[in-house]
Amino acid sequence: MRVVETRVDAGSAAFGENREAYRALVDTLRERMRWAIDGGPGRERSIERHLARGKVMVRDRIDMVTDENTPFLEFSTLSGWGQYGDEVPGGGIVTGIGVVHGVPYVFIANDATVKGGSLVPIAIKKHVRAQEIAEENGLGVIYLVDSGGAFLPLQDEIFPDKDHFGGSFYRQARLSAMGLPQLSVVLGGCTAGGAYVPALSDEVIMVEGIGRIFLGGPPIVKAALGEIIEPDDLGGAELHTRTSGVSDYMAATEPEAYGRLREICETTAQRRVDDRQGWLDWAPPEPPLLDPEEIYGIISADDRIPFDATEIIARMVDGSKFSAFKPEWGTSIITGFARIWGHMVGIIANNGIIFSDAALKATHFIELCEQRRIPLLFLQNTSGYMVGRDSEAAGIAKHGAKMVSAVANATVPKYTVLIGGSYGAGNYGMCGRGFRPRFLFAWPNSRIATMSAETAQTVLVDIRLAGLKGEDTTPEQVEALRAEVAEQYLTQSDPYHATSRLWDDGLIDPVDTRDALGLCLALAARQDAPAPGPGLVYRM
Ligand code: COA
Repeated sequence: MRVVETRVDAGSAAFGENREAYRALVDTLRERMRWAIDGGPGRERSIERHLARGKVMVRDRIDMVTDENTPFLEFSTLSGWGQYGDEVPGGGIVTGIGVVHGVPYVFIANDATVKGGSLVPIAIKKHVRAQEIAEENGLGVIYLVDSGGAFLPLQDEIFPDKDHFGGSFYRQARLSAMGLPQLSVVLGGCTAGGAYVPALSDEVIMVEGIGRIFLGGPPIVKAALGEIIEPDDLGGAELHTRTSGVSDYMAATEPEAYGRLREICETTAQRRVDDRQGWLDWAPPEPPLLDPEEIYGIISADDRIPFDATEIIARMVDGSKFSAFKPEWGTSIITGFARIWGHMVGIIANNGIIFSDAALKATHFIELCEQRRIPLLFLQNTSGYMVGRDSEAAGIAKHGAKMVSAVANATVPKYTVLIGGSYGAGNYGMCGRGFRPRFLFAWPNSRIATMSAETAQTVLVDIRLAGLKGEDTTPEQVEALRAEVAEQYLTQSDPYHATSRLWDDGLIDPVDTRDALGLCLALAARQDAPAPGPGLVYRM
């Protein structure tokens, strides 16, 4: 593979201005992450109360379980951002992938300092998404349970539907049947539905004095049966470990429980994170030759000014080496092979609007990767497929559909990063959430919507004016309408709006992207080869 020859002038004024602007975006991201970790109204009080009870903070818990000096890839830290009156930082739940005795596990850990760890709608979505990640990547799940169960004021948004609370238990039972260990440590009250998280686990540890499991808590028991009973007598660690058998182990303290959990993990016979099955081409990794931090200066502070995706690729891949496929044709999409942390990937990256030839090239390339069993990485930065008479006459709809169909049917692992705009059907053809990439990350400069705010202003205002059927409108009214539409689109295409709703698995710093993808690829490499797809390669 050849080393990319960069055309970036890192000494130019424009580069310096872009870099400063991007650093500000990264600072904002870090500040908001900090807020999700320990901010929110009244949170200090609940953190104090939590610590006063001798309980450990949720991320410290994960730290106590995972191997020393190993990464924890946290998902969607900013879920819930700007929702629920900003009272549910992170959705009140932490999910991610950590390593225990060399084996990667998905962690699902409630944050009891946020609404008692009860589950608001986005928390359920995050819990279910983490289970989906476990299934696709063949990972066991560790549940650190400290939750008030369903967030009762919003029960109709979390209880009955397919991927609501019930769906999480359905998945848990099936994950266990797939041989993916389901392990729980009970660190708080598990009431009603919440009782089934430990009850459906393969092995359960309860911590004395804080862990409780009951289908109905003391108030319900009093109301229903007239029994007055202390919580520990109704569902404490001792009762469940020595009498009911709902729990398998009892620990006096949290550290003791995590020691026991690690002991269990030693016996689960799962493949290690570095255990490659050989279907995915691998070579010893090398860092990029070009500095990943230069990505900050390459992405223009003005999102109307395009940037060359090859320059981004060169700063993410091993040795900055990229073997471009069909580089002289269909140039609004870049396709080619590279390695990330040693793993071979086929990269599809936008360089602006997708034209018919670019859509066909991408389709051809997806077929090549399918046949060669090479995972696909999509780097999205597009305003969508080309519109207009010439483009329609050239059949952009059917050429775009070929690309969409190839993406949908590709059986190799797919990964997507939003590195810029993700607009219109470009989101679909470039493996947006609907196309089930195994992981989807976004950068803090990204934007996602059916169309840009500028385009929407024109389109929506025209539609509304046409609907008024010639009624008089003043220029002021039209201007107010334009402003309203722009405001709506700008708000809804904001990356924080997107990540809050779990349209991605998290906003990440461009500099960290290579490491995040490296871990994701290592997960695929430890699995058996994916089932073969159609296998044909049509020249497009
Ligand atoms: N729905 C909505 N809010 C809940 C909740 C739930 N299921 N569980 C806890 N909360 C809220 C509390 O209202 C409180 O909110 P605030 O901070 O705005 O005042 C916050 O979470 C902390 O709860 P609190 O009871 O003060 O904390 P605690 O640590 O003493 O007790 C629990 C935690 C989970 C043991 C306790 O809140 C509880 O038993 N909750 C109800 C459990 C239940 O019956 N669930 C049914 C699920 S189907």
